[in-house]
Amino acid sequence: RVIVTLRITVIGTGYLGATHAACMAELGFDVLGVDIDERKIEQLAAGQLPFHEPGLPELLKKHTASGKLRFTTSFEEAGAWGDVHFIGVGTPQKPGGYGADIRYVDAAALSLAQHITKDALIVGKSTVPVGTARRLACLVQEKHTGPGTIRFAWNPEFLREGFAVKNTISPDRLVIGIEDRDLDAEAILREVYASQLAAETPMIFTDYETAELVKVAANAFLATKISFINAFSEVTEFVGGDIRTLADAIGHDARIGRRFLNAGVGFGGGCLPKDIRALQARVSELGLDRTMRFLTEVDEINLRRRDRVVALTEEILGRLNGATVGILGVAFKPDSDDVRDSPALDVAARLFNAGANVNVYDPQGNANAAKRFPRLNYVDSVPAAVRDAHVVILLTEWQEFKNLHPEDLNGLVANKIIIDGRNVLNVQEWEDADWTIAALGRKF
Ligand code: UGA
Repeated sequence: RVIVTLRITVIGTGYLGATHAACMAELGFDVLGVDIDERKIEQLAAGQLPFHEPGLPELLKKHTASGKLRFTTSFEEAGAWGDVHFIGVGTPQKPGGYGADIRYVDAAALSLAQHITKDALIVGKSTVPVGTARRLACLVQEKHTGPGTIRFAWNPEFLREGFAVKNTISPDRLVIGIEDRDLDAEAILREVYASQLAAETPMIFTDYETAELVKVAANAFLATKISFINAFSEVTEFVGGDIRTLADAIGHDARIGRRFLNAGVGFGGGCLPKDIRALQARVSELGLDRTMRFLTEVDEINLRRRDRVVALTEEILGRLNGATVGILGVAFKPDSDDVRDSPALDVAARLFNAGANVNVYDPQGNANAAKRFPRLNYVDSVPAAVRDAHVVILLTEWQEFKNLHPEDLNGLVANKIIIDGRNVLNVQEWEDADWTIAALGRKF
């Protein structure tokens, strides 16, 4: 089988799909991005990225201008044009449940199958419950009545917000689930990722189930690592001790490693919380009720960190009703405007609901946060956020906040009290400047 230039479509132009489409164009392919959301498609076609991601706007502009990257809402066009179809639609948590809602993945695969009119490879990238790929591989064949042969693969995505371009162009590893001995699918994907292979990226070909599970195993491990250190935070807060030194010290053991051991207000975002819940739900569905039960603890430890910030604020101020709180950070992590399941936004909203006046500043996240929780007072600078505050609370570790010094806030606040929800400030420096500083993981 010889294809001179593979044409690539990417179904779903959210975070994952838009990044993958632009990066595939950057690697030299002609790419068609497909979405059912007409507004999003118009915006992307005009070279405008609807979310914040370093480096991506430049790629989008460059390749929409050159014509290498186009966008459409038509599955008919995609099915007739593409050789390789990546599916990168969302799999959100089911409303009112713990499992993943995979209806968008199903719909994308089936719409494609109906419209494919030549040999093609469908490659799932979304994070899905184990078993989805095998089920879809069959359904796709049933739905496909046109000419050509459809092959099917699962290639989970490991990109992190804030590093999406780098993670896509030079990933740590590529994992690809294929049907037993489907050498054609393997050859096509080797060709797609050839430039990354040159960079000696490990490329792991396996079965569908392993590929699906690698993705959720990685996220479950990362979530567990964060909750592990946060559980120790609860102990050091109680008995005294320094959680950062503890993390540094165990992190020196190469088997443990220092990364993802930053204690604080915990993990959020569109992936880790949802993925650990969906994994438990799926495994229980399979009858393995006890197997992933530890993830319930991981989730609970994580959510208790938010309770702790709210309780600490009340403990420090005596009451929340009528207090003025200056919140620094509302995105679920720095270098992102994403507020999905953001610990920072959750804490801010709970303080508001308890009667506090809440001023919020985030370098990128304000607009998204205001859509979800409009009643907070969103402001556009640190001084505006901390003005007359009875307490300042740092909840997302943007560089701008890590660089803060006590003198930057002089004369602005009502009380010199700061809660460091991410363990990024120099406690000694703030204490020397007569501030009361409470950091998560330190006895207060
Ligand atoms: C995560 C994974 O890191 C990616 O590998 C994966 O591909 C992605 O989910 C996905 O499934 O799509 P992401 O959600 O973008 O990526 O963000 P992370 O950088 O993993 O951070 C997740 C949360 O953990 C953030 O709220 C962050 O503040 C928190 N965190 C991270 C900590 O509280 N402590 C740490 O030490 C590290």
